[in-house]
Amino acid sequence: MITITQLILSLCTLLLACADAAAPYQLLKPPLDTPWTSKVGSNPWPQYPRPQLRRDVWQSLNGIWTFQKAQGPGDVANPPALPLGQEVLIPSCIESGISGIQEMNVIHMWFGTNFTVPPRWADNGRRVMLNFEAVDYEATVYVNGAEVGTNRGGYHRFTLDITSNIVRDGANQLHVFVFDPTDDQSIPQGKQVRRPSHIFYTPCTGIWQTVWLESVPKDFISSLDITADMNGNVTVVARSWHKENTPVDISIASPQGDVVASQQHVSDQPFTVNVPSPMLWSPDSPTLYNITVIMGDDEVKSYTGFRTISTGVVNGIQRPQLNGEFVFMFGPLDQGYWPDGIYTPPTLEAMVYDLELIKSLGMNMVRKHIKVEPDLFYEACDRLGLLVMQDMPSMRVFTNAPPTDAEQREFERQLEIMVNEHKSYPSIVTWVIYNEGWGQRTNYYPEFFLTDRVRELDSSRLVNSVTGWHDHGAGDYHDNHHYAEPQCGTPWSSLPNTPYDPKRIGFQGEFGGIGHRPADENLWPVPEAVRTINETYELHNAGLESYHYRAHVLLQLLREQVEKYACSGAVYTQTTDVEGEVNGLMTYDRRVVRVDVEQWKKDIQGLYEAARGRVRGAGPENRPGPHKSGGGGARGGHSGQQPH
Ligand SMILES: *[C@@H]1O[C@H](CO)[C@@H](O)[C@H](O)[C@H]1NC(C)=O
Ligand SMILES: *[C@@H]1O[C@H](CO)[C@@H](O)[C@H](O)[C@H]1NC(C)=O
Ligand SMILES: *[C@@H]1O[C@H](CO)[C@@H](O)[C@H](O)[C@H]1NC(C)=O
Ligand SMILES: *[C@@H]1O[C@H](CO)[C@@H](O)[C@H](O)[C@H]1NC(C)=O
Repeated sequence: MITITQLILSLCTLLLACADAAAPYQLLKPPLDTPWTSKVGSNPWPQYPRPQLRRDVWQSLNGIWTFQKAQGPGDVANPPALPLGQEVLIPSCIESGISGIQEMNVIHMWFGTNFTVPPRWADNGRRVMLNFEAVDYEATVYVNGAEVGTNRGGYHRFTLDITSNIVRDGANQLHVFVFDPTDDQSIPQGKQVRRPSHIFYTPCTGIWQTVWLESVPKDFISSLDITADMNGNVTVVARSWHKENTPVDISIASPQGDVVASQQHVSDQPFTVNVPSPMLWSPDSPTLYNITVIMGDDEVKSYTGFRTISTGVVNGIQRPQLNGEFVFMFGPLDQGYWPDGIYTPPTLEAMVYDLELIKSLGMNMVRKHIKVEPDLFYEACDRLGLLVMQDMPSMRVFTNAPPTDAEQREFERQLEIMVNEHKSYPSIVTWVIYNEGWGQRTNYYPEFFLTDRVRELDSSRLVNSVTGWHDHGAGDYHDNHHYAEPQCGTPWSSLPNTPYDPKRIGFQGEFGGIGHRPADENLWPVPEAVRTINETYELHNAGLESYHYRAHVLLQLLREQVEKYACSGAVYTQTTDVEGEVNGLMTYDRRVVRVDVEQWKKDIQGLYEAARGRVRGAGPENRPGPHKSGGGGARGGHSGQQPH
């Protein structure tokens, strides 16, 4: 059946007579909004999107574009005339109210806009680069009708040199063809599914992060890897787009703005600059140093923080260490979902609000759960002082069809991109490869060589190879998921897939998840989601009193496990409610903080005190071996280990 819109569009294409026929953009009412929905406007995400490689000359292409569905994969070869049938706000997920489309199950589609290039941007051999911060899932990009590049993978940046395709004094046409199979295929997709239910949510399709242009000199710095450690050593690799071994100058400024170190070297090779006695970065004191790098005519700004994350035995127990000291890590499972924007936070302020709330409760960590955020998220964590445990977005959860070899290779390729793109953010301290066995093949154990591969790309962080089940001993963490009661670093385990292992860091990758149905005005009212509320691990329908009591009990239990056993950190599920899950510190719309703030602050401080006690304290109470027979959890079954 052909819809009226399709009919008009085909007539337009035939007659080329429907310019300006695009249906105007309208913010559509999402099932639930947030305090920021009405502030999105038509100039969303105006901030410079790449905080660790900044240039002055840039232009955002965010705003109103046009959109239309495509019939299928074959349409990629034929960009249709602009404008397309319907206006859309960029960046957005087309499933979101903010997009102005709010439709599910669109698999092939076009996005289009026009742009002009400011004068002199392409003079004297300068190049014009087109940057996409993230497009889910595959993008084919045309400028003035010529294909300029493609990208596969919904969570990373790609950059195209469009200098030879642009007109310098007039409008340029930009088309992006997008294909997004979501969970029709096994691809890195995280929580996105076509049919959302319980712990899986609405998918995101399309250009969901900033699109922008920049003008760069003929030879320019294409990437900058910076790692700074507690000894003041700053290791730098400045890559040039096409000319290796070009001289580069680096200078590092203190938080007061004084240059404290500078050095000359060449591009594309690692070198080290030492800053004597730097102020270290930590959650309590998130000190950052600004950096300027110059390569010929190219000058870029960046920053770093001096910190070392490592493992070590403290009083007989394997611990994560920040700047040489045991750091107990506590924070929420952070899905990064929004009722109005799905994957795209409505505004920067909204995104940072979540982080500030986490910080204000006294937590020092956030586990970014099978999603990769805009770079400004990591910059905010650097600035606020939050340790980040960064998950690789998992592939489809399979029952009997594990990823094929080709799907597995693509997962590995995108894992490498995630690590390379984010390895200069001081806040990120751990990479997570697999979550709860999702997409994890077990006919061989890919987590072993993937752990080695991640360490090769980035030796300055820890690796949590598998969080929650299918643990074969890889990586730095021994990490189980146990709802609702924690079993953190305990020498017993009711979880056959994650047996106790004192050689690695004892960690509770997920626990908690207790819930309370909010008032209807704060609930995601989609019937499919409402139907699954009763699947919440522990639901306190009787009221918030019992919810507060149970939350307190769980944090006390965790504290006891810190005092007695090898527990080095934990992740509480979760920052906010998400769709049919009603177990957040806050409701999905961020309008109600559900937790008893004062109680939580006390209980969280209690965890850190207990951890400090273990550093001061005498011997360990959980040497491997003798306590193996201890009980306490549900034994011999999956009863306590639920997916999330
Ligand atoms: C782009 O340019 C075409 C041709 O000049 C024009 O008809 C159309 O309205 C423009 N589209 C947008 C989205 O600005
Ligand atoms: C790192 O810093 C320490 C102390 O300042 C110094 O002794 C060491 O040589 C440095 N390492 C490198 C690789 O520069
Ligand atoms: C460091 O850089 C940031 C971003 O440009 C700037 O806001 C800040 O003022 C700089 N700090 C100092 C001390 O110059
Ligand atoms: C939740 O309620 C639905 C009916 O709405 C029912 O089919 C399902 O079995 C219930 N699930 C649980 C875990 O109680």
